[in-house]
Amino acid sequence: MDRLKVLSLFSGCGGMDLGILGNFKYLNQNYHKLPTEIVYAIDNDPSAVEIYNANFQHNCLLGDIKTINEKELPNHDILMGGFPCQSFSIVAQNPPRLGIKDEKGQLFFEICRILKEKQPRFFIAENVKGILSANQKRAFPLIIQEFQKVGYNISYQVFNASDYGIPQKRERVFIIGFKHFEDCFKFQFPQPITTRNKIPLKLVLDEQIEDKYFFSQKAVDGMLKAKETMNKGRVQNIDEPCNTISAHLAKVSLNSTDPVLKEGQLYRRFTPRETARIQSFPDNFRLDVVSENRQYKAIGNAVPPVLMWHISQQIINLIVEEEKQKYSLECA
Ligand SMILES: C[S@@+](CC[C@H](N)C(=O)[O-])C[C@H]1O[C@@H](n2cnc3c(N)ncnc32)[C@H](O)[C@@H]1O
Repeated sequence: MDRLKVLSLFSGCGGMDLGILGNFKYLNQNYHKLPTEIVYAIDNDPSAVEIYNANFQHNCLLGDIKTINEKELPNHDILMGGFPCQSFSIVAQNPPRLGIKDEKGQLFFEICRILKEKQPRFFIAENVKGILSANQKRAFPLIIQEFQKVGYNISYQVFNASDYGIPQKRERVFIIGFKHFEDCFKFQFPQPITTRNKIPLKLVLDEQIEDKYFFSQKAVDGMLKAKETMNKGRVQNIDEPCNTISAHLAKVSLNSTDPVLKEGQLYRRFTPRETARIQSFPDNFRLDVVSENRQYKAIGNAVPPVLMWHISQQIINLIVEEEKQKYSLECA
């Protein structure tokens, strides 16, 4: 089978990209190479692009998607993009959720602009679960309508990463667009794998942790005093998957709602490497090309590669089945 050409928008540090390419190992499992190649990738965050380019053989361009001339883009079979989600997220309530009225919330129109011109066979878009309820539930149907207007049949589903061998309860919506109705009809989202036997957080934690990751006694005392009345100190149960890792981890404090760890009487943040593991990046995925703050941000924004691999595999299966049928007809 010919390799499927993929166009990657809002590529970040490449979580989706690693997932759709495959050929990586995570928690002793091999996620085999998929018959795909990335023909174009772009993001406007210099640090994310630096991490991306340290990990892939092809290059991600640093640039603003709004400046791309869609006619100059290479032809491709799959367009993918986790469009920016801040304005849809229920976590980001300050400032309040603006949804599609916000400039960032409108970046999906850029995806539509490119789909309209290039008409790839599939697209995969990812966003936070909050997109389903944004703008009093009006934003999501509008987004779907826009995708339909440019010629696509749509299927979507909310996924919990912890159902797919990932130690994180991250919930995200995946919207898959199909140029051909038969593809949409035949497509099946991947079945959960670890619904009953979830991967616990402790499997991805390190034992030797540098002092700088521990909170000071002053911060701990302050948090303990305030804890009765406020929802603070999100200590994780290491026997369960972790709460969602976000880009905000760069600024984690004991007063924020981000997940932290308690070891004896000590509290600490995750290391960037642990964060990457919680997101299902393999240990050979390089992070050390930018500052730790930038690493947290890029990793927190990423799509878990393992989840993306499972979803991509289902699209590949459609093509494999199609080729099998063609072959059996030719041989009959
Ligand atoms: C949710 S993150 C994508 C994460 C990525 N899919 C991954 O799996 O690692 C959204 C990305 O959109 C990028 N972005 C935001 N506005 C952009 C623009 N106007 N042009 C290009 N990229 C943009 C951000 O820098 C960020 O990396």
